[in-house]
Amino acid sequence: MINFRYGISGETNVQGEKTTKLDKLSNEIFINVLSSTCTTCILISEENETPIIVAKEKRGKYVVCFDPLDGSSNIDCLVSIGSIFSIYKSSGITMESELKNVIRSSNNLIAAGYALYGSATMIVLSVEQSVNGFTYDPAIGEFMLTEQNIKIPTRGNIYSINEGSEGTWEVAIKEYIKSKKYPAKGKSYGARYVGSMVADIHRTMKYGGIFLYPSTSAYPNGKLRLLYECIPLAYIIKNAGGKASTGKIDLLDVIPEKIHQRTPIFLGSSEDVDDLLTFTKSSF
Ligand code: AHG
Ligand code: MN
Ligand code: MN
Repeated sequence: MINFRYGISGETNVQGEKTTKLDKLSNEIFINVLSSTCTTCILISEENETPIIVAKEKRGKYVVCFDPLDGSSNIDCLVSIGSIFSIYKSSGITMESELKNVIRSSNNLIAAGYALYGSATMIVLSVEQSVNGFTYDPAIGEFMLTEQNIKIPTRGNIYSINEGSEGTWEVAIKEYIKSKKYPAKGKSYGARYVGSMVADIHRTMKYGGIFLYPSTSAYPNGKLRLLYECIPLAYIIKNAGGKASTGKIDLLDVIPEKIHQRTPIFLGSSEDVDDLLTFTKSSF
């Protein structure tokens, strides 16, 4: 019998979280490809404790932050997983000391995207305030533009949160979810949660609604990582006409201080995020 179980590994990554064979393989592919294109100078990966400095002779002017494989708990049960990235422009001095200047402001962010390995494989790319989707066509081995100028509905009817942690949410989050489950009038929202952020965000962008990963007792600062999960997906959602917040401020206004920094995150349809903020703004 061939062992297809790429999700199995007894090892942990730099953040003490379980890492799988596919996490490692994806990371190697990202690093090898990005560092050989002569376009990048610094690479920041979920799987590497420190930034990777590209060899001098191959250096270009872009800093790339990436989660090479998102949703690794879903590998062995064949549920959708993805990859996430953001691209920053450096001012040309390709020194590690410059890293802080580059990533300190989302103004330096020039593009972000994700790949979703689902019922089809799609790359969603956001550049210059537009969001476009490219579906892989296995017959010709190319990604074809299939969704032009993607826009998120202004309101949805789905909330997406790991409800198993409800006992440790702040009151504002409990009250918000309660308001969606037991509305004073109208229909209650549906609940959907894949557990792969890329898949949950792609559904949110297509159908509308809200994705939430608040602080919990296990993750007091939220679980999701700012540089290679939250900022790229917030940038894409905002360019599709949605909103992204920490519950206190716009997510793209957070100034990263550490490369593996985490943050609470709430993003999706603008009216749904506005609703959430009416609950959090008085208590957060
Ligand atoms: P990764 O596989 O890159 O570590 O990311 C997993 C993340 C994200 O994809 C998802 O939204 C979240 O973990 C799910 O966490 P919970 O199981 O705590 O809900
Ligand atoms: Mn991830
Ligand atoms: Mn990952």
